[in-house]
Amino acid sequence: MPKSTVTFVCRECGGESIRWSGRCPHCQAWNTLEEFQVTPGRPNLRRPGSPSSRPIPIAEVEVEAAPRLALEWQELNRVLGGGVVPGSLVLLGGEPGVGKSTLLMHLAAQASRGERRVLYVSGEESAQQVAMRARRLGIVSSSLLVLAETDVETVVTAIERERPALAIVDSIQTVHDPALGAAPGTVTQVRDAAGRLMRLAKESAVPIFLVGHVTKEGAIAGPRVLEHVVDAVLYLEGERGHEFRILRAAKNRFGSTEEIGVFSMGDAGLEEVRDPSGALLADLRSLPGTVVLATIEGTRPLLVELQSLVSPTPFGLPRRSANGVDLNRLHMIIAVLEKRAAVPLANADVFVNVAGGIRVGEPAADLGLAIAIAGSLQDRSLPLGTVVLGEVGLGGEVRRVGRLDRRLQEAARRGFTHAIVPRGVAARPDGMEVSEVGDLVEALSRAFSCSEGSPRPWPRPRADGRLPDGTGTP
Ligand code: TYD
Ligand code: MG
Repeated sequence: MPKSTVTFVCRECGGESIRWSGRCPHCQAWNTLEEFQVTPGRPNLRRPGSPSSRPIPIAEVEVEAAPRLALEWQELNRVLGGGVVPGSLVLLGGEPGVGKSTLLMHLAAQASRGERRVLYVSGEESAQQVAMRARRLGIVSSSLLVLAETDVETVVTAIERERPALAIVDSIQTVHDPALGAAPGTVTQVRDAAGRLMRLAKESAVPIFLVGHVTKEGAIAGPRVLEHVVDAVLYLEGERGHEFRILRAAKNRFGSTEEIGVFSMGDAGLEEVRDPSGALLADLRSLPGTVVLATIEGTRPLLVELQSLVSPTPFGLPRRSANGVDLNRLHMIIAVLEKRAAVPLANADVFVNVAGGIRVGEPAADLGLAIAIAGSLQDRSLPLGTVVLGEVGLGGEVRRVGRLDRRLQEAARRGFTHAIVPRGVAARPDGMEVSEVGDLVEALSRAFSCSEGSPRPWPRPRADGRLPDGTGTP
């Protein structure tokens, strides 16, 4: 059978098909298939089938790898799993303008010192533009080399010749091989370029960082294909107008994907935020609907401020909007509040926001969410110095969360004096009053009675869901 030289690859999921169709047979996305040229036997494809390629006992495999390149910013090292691994290929994704080039310029400056050189390849900006950004960031270094280039062959040659301690390619969507005939940024080009840079990284032990722009849908433009090729995928998140930027690993062959790095964007570029809890709570005030949670990001407890605003629905269906928490989780908490604590929300719009652009994916945020919503509805605020933790079940019960002691310690260290938590606390930090609660009603009574001087318990609904006097939502 003659070998086909063309297949079709989905821009969204990277799935291959032998013929074009309007809909990807793998992910069902419409109009995402792109022609992909299969290039068998390209002269520069080096096969690793050398005589040394033979199976060896696992005990004889040398694991004493070259040391990682540690950067000055601990926030970067943390997300990378302890520094840059020699020969690794790392993809940094993010929306245009979020600060990818800026972050990598800082990284380049920290990796280059004296003899240790870094090569910054820019396909998006001229060498002057790159240099202007570097000056603005206060980076003037003769160990930082710049190359404005889009031809992948030239890029590969430059890295081979210079043998830098680190290479950066900004962005992978701009580098291409003119011989392939496809336009830059297409699946064909991006996959080919990433594949070549991967082989180069492995052969030369030069770590290479790629910038990848992310489309609106959140996939790295062109190809999710890339996510399979590279060793690590990092995403830089944050809003243009906001101060904070969060760096997250979506994939990491050399470390955990749970750690985050926090940075702030200012006039002189990015700065690492060593104490994110302090920075995130800087504007904290005691307001109805505001609650402080202690989440765990990777190995580090992080105190975050969650705000909610409940207002009557002017007409039609109530609106629910969530920023930083999962919308489905919000719907669930609203339903449980109505059913198990007789909090009437059927005709209320509910908006939730986590300050600083942080995303809280943990169920440990449930109880805080519930207290914030009930507080906003009733215009009752928690006193400053209260932290709330706990998962809420469909029965209105408050369930345990992992690593509670670590979270309480962090809150106590920050001067928090009261915690509302699930039952079963092993160690109470000194100077902290710990209120253990079994269900939502108990938690709401505890939360709001203490703020008003006189203990006023939250009314417990009857079995039919109505309040003791027969009012409330059924
Ligand atoms: P950039 O790194 O060019 O974004 P990306 O490479 O992800 O497209 O950063 C662009 C934004 O960052 C731009 O809107 C301006 C802002 N910025 C600052 O606020 N301060 C700075 O010192 C720099 C260099 C950029
Ligand atoms: Mg850029």
